[in-house]
Amino acid sequence: MNNVIDFVNTNRDRFLDELKAYLAIPSVSSLPEHRDDMRRCAEWTFAQMRGIGLQNVHLAETPGHPIVYGEWLGAPGAPTILVYGHYDVQPVDPIEQWTTQPFEATVRDGDLYARGAADDKGQVFMHLKAIEAHMKANGRLPANIKVMIEGEEEVGSENLDDFIRNEKARLSCDVVVISDTPMFARGVPSICYGLRGLVYAQIDLRGTKTDLHSGSFGGAVANPAIVLAQVLAQMKDRSGRIRIPGFYDDVRALTDQEREEFKRLPFDEKHYRKDLGAPKLFGETGYSTLERTWARPTFDVNGLLSGFTGEGSKTVIPATAMAKVSMRLVPNQDPDKIAALFEAYVRKVTPKTVELTVTRMHGGKPWMTDLDNRFIQATGRAIEQGFGKRAVFMREGGSIPIVSTFQQELGAPSVLFGIGLPDENSHAPNEFLNLDNFYGGVLTSAFLYKEIAG
Ligand code: BES
Ligand code: ZN
Repeated sequence: MNNVIDFVNTNRDRFLDELKAYLAIPSVSSLPEHRDDMRRCAEWTFAQMRGIGLQNVHLAETPGHPIVYGEWLGAPGAPTILVYGHYDVQPVDPIEQWTTQPFEATVRDGDLYARGAADDKGQVFMHLKAIEAHMKANGRLPANIKVMIEGEEEVGSENLDDFIRNEKARLSCDVVVISDTPMFARGVPSICYGLRGLVYAQIDLRGTKTDLHSGSFGGAVANPAIVLAQVLAQMKDRSGRIRIPGFYDDVRALTDQEREEFKRLPFDEKHYRKDLGAPKLFGETGYSTLERTWARPTFDVNGLLSGFTGEGSKTVIPATAMAKVSMRLVPNQDPDKIAALFEAYVRKVTPKTVELTVTRMHGGKPWMTDLDNRFIQATGRAIEQGFGKRAVFMREGGSIPIVSTFQQELGAPSVLFGIGLPDENSHAPNEFLNLDNFYGGVLTSAFLYKEIAG
């Protein structure tokens, strides 16, 4: 491994320059105006994968953005690792809150600032550089590796399920390695063993054909903005419990052991609150913050729209009101079942004074794995070598919809080894990746392939 380590250390600056070029491509999957950038980014990923020595590299077309695939299968008898990640990023607004431009990656204080730096181009690139280090230093990899980088993770991975189902043989593997999560804290490398699932929906209310003069008509019809507020207010009680009947039926309870382990993690609630700028934390009664975010389901309003919101005033009764809402799910909640319970409840609590439309959007299943599998042990050993520290085990509140599909369709367990940080600002202004974590992550990934090979 010494020549692999040397290769990484002597190429640090070049790695950084290349990563900056990757981050310069505005690969925002959700915005139609970035369609060409998405393809450019897929092609950039393709060229990288070829350049580092992967074979059979190609773009797989989908009804949406292309998937980039490549492999190196020169270690017969050794295990096969599927590395999964995404080259798409979230939109950048509010752009005025970025200290430097989101697509001009800039280093400040050892952190690299750009949209996608952590989520997930930086972490994808970390694996590509670990593969390159093995290939250039030794001419081979310690295990067989397949790399699949998609362009629709941030919009729910809607075309990836079909791709995996159609390409089962090509994608067959012993383990899936994913780096798309934050570590527990700065200097605390981590292995993530659970993710929440997601149900996303839009509620549209219509009260009248058009907006109305609130003097002439105020009092005669229901105001959809008020009705929407009333509907949303019935989703949760004051103790933070979700009121949708049946919502908690399949929730797997936290075990005493897991609660103890969460308590042992170096979590400072005061610091957490201050960092968020929240006057006071709030969540479901009877659970700690880590329990609330990792192991309990949520209901949230992601956006609201109704009526006049410009400068000054306008006396109007809006014709419509709209809310985007989502629920994070935990094992063993099923997104289809929860979506149906949600819709039935919204229908029940919405009065007949407005017309209701509920539109379901993307989602994903929750995921959790046992800690006593050999790939997790291998990851622990790789982290000790790459970071010189023991890894902690954690769950996460975020979602990676495809992880449960890997288990279901390929029968392969996933290992989630992420090198982001909890305050990395992913999906927000000033997203960054810590460069020490990046280089430590390149080394850890290189060790990981070897540890998995055994
Ligand atoms: N990298 C995140 C997933 C993540 C976030 C894991 C935070 C752990 C902590 C991923 O790119 C993401 O943002 N996923 C979306 C999925 C959704 C669009 C279906 C999410 O969690 O909102
Ligand atoms: Zn994301």
